[in-house]
Amino acid sequence: MRFQYVTLFPEFFDSPLSAGLMGKARAAGIVDFSCVNPRDFAQNKHHHVDDRPYGGGPGMVMQADPLARALESIPEPGRILLLTPRGRPLTQDLARELAAGGRNLTLICGRYEGLDERVMELFPVEPVCVGDFVLTGGEAGALCLTEAVARLLPGFMGKEESGTEESFSAGLLEYPHYTRPEDYRGLPVPEILLSGDHARIEAWRRERSLASTLTWRPELLADANLTPEDAIFLRSLPRTRLGRALSLGLCHHPVQNKAGETITVSLTNLDVHDMSRVSRSYDLGGAYVLTPLNDQQRLARTLLRHWVEGPGGAANPDRAEAMSRITVLDGLDAAIRDIEERTGQRPRVVATSARFERARSPLVGLDAVRGWLGEGPVFLVFGTGSGLAPEVLDAADARLAPIRFLAGYNHLPVRAALGITVDRLLGDFY
Ligand SMILES: C[S@@+](CC[C@H](N)C(=O)[O-])C[C@H]1O[C@@H](n2cnc3c(N)ncnc32)[C@H](O)[C@@H]1O
Repeated sequence: MRFQYVTLFPEFFDSPLSAGLMGKARAAGIVDFSCVNPRDFAQNKHHHVDDRPYGGGPGMVMQADPLARALESIPEPGRILLLTPRGRPLTQDLARELAAGGRNLTLICGRYEGLDERVMELFPVEPVCVGDFVLTGGEAGALCLTEAVARLLPGFMGKEESGTEESFSAGLLEYPHYTRPEDYRGLPVPEILLSGDHARIEAWRRERSLASTLTWRPELLADANLTPEDAIFLRSLPRTRLGRALSLGLCHHPVQNKAGETITVSLTNLDVHDMSRVSRSYDLGGAYVLTPLNDQQRLARTLLRHWVEGPGGAANPDRAEAMSRITVLDGLDAAIRDIEERTGQRPRVVATSARFERARSPLVGLDAVRGWLGEGPVFLVFGTGSGLAPEVLDAADARLAPIRFLAGYNHLPVRAALGITVDRLLGDFY
């Protein structure tokens, strides 16, 4: 397979492409490399290849013409890939796809602020991103892509199976490796690897692989081909339970009606049940039903008594367990005080809304809230009626973006919004 780099720095590729297995593969004719420098195609006297961006702003932009001429000089470009943060992520799947395609690859390496957008319109360019970070130029990314693809080509690796057992090949990260000596600085090789019992070694490796994936990339587990035994093993592993730091608030006042007026909404039986079950399923720290109305508080407590201590609980102990997690209080401040007493720390209050509203609190992403859950308590507040009143949104420490805000219709019942938000935040892994 031929890799052709469109680069202002051809010398960048010299040593990495001649070292180790890559050098051998090159000598064996499995891979072949060439560089085309857009500077050689610049028509101006000083061979400039960049200019200032239209519209102003920092940095320089690679001009379309030298790039276009450089691309046109390549007789068989094959698939044209542009290394850019604005592209399809480079994954093992993409590497496999490119290796299996067997076509030449032309890799455009950007520099400065990137290239004139019109190059992407003139050529069938496929953008590829090597990670959520910014490099100085596309060359290092092109090398990553080259290695990931080349090593999957037939004949590149010594043993064919070394490509099938690695990280990402079965949706999991790989197990740890050990080699001689058996004891290094007092650290022995796990006994099982010396046992010669291949079935046990295989089982041990599977477990280590599952454990690393849970620790470092838990989201991969969602797509991994897990067996029931894998699930039992994963469940037995110690893990951070971020949900313990999360409390939910089902707020009946102050909330808005459809006209945007501040009102108090009455209790809905189903909301209380469903919040309790979400709280139990995700093992949360607390769940609050908040209403300032005495009769509504009495109603909520009667309901809870029935399900926790009364005939409901006797008939359905599972529900009793879930409902026992609910606390009824008169408002947000009381819940915040309760969380503070329970945990010894004032919670960060995160408000939710079905609409993008102007409010003084900042919008934050789920990653940020997950980070906060690792630091202390978080109180996630949901409004009944037509949503939390503006003063609650203003006073919160942060707000989450509405669920399905791109859709024309996102009027979810509060108990559904609550389940979806908690799952997005904690998923199966925390
Ligand atoms: C300084 S970067 C330009 C960053 C660009 N202004 C932006 O904010 O998206 C210069 C070049 O490095 C390459 N590059 C930077 N980060 C990359 C990444 N994560 N994946 C692939 N290429 C990248 C691209 O070719 C890019 O044109």
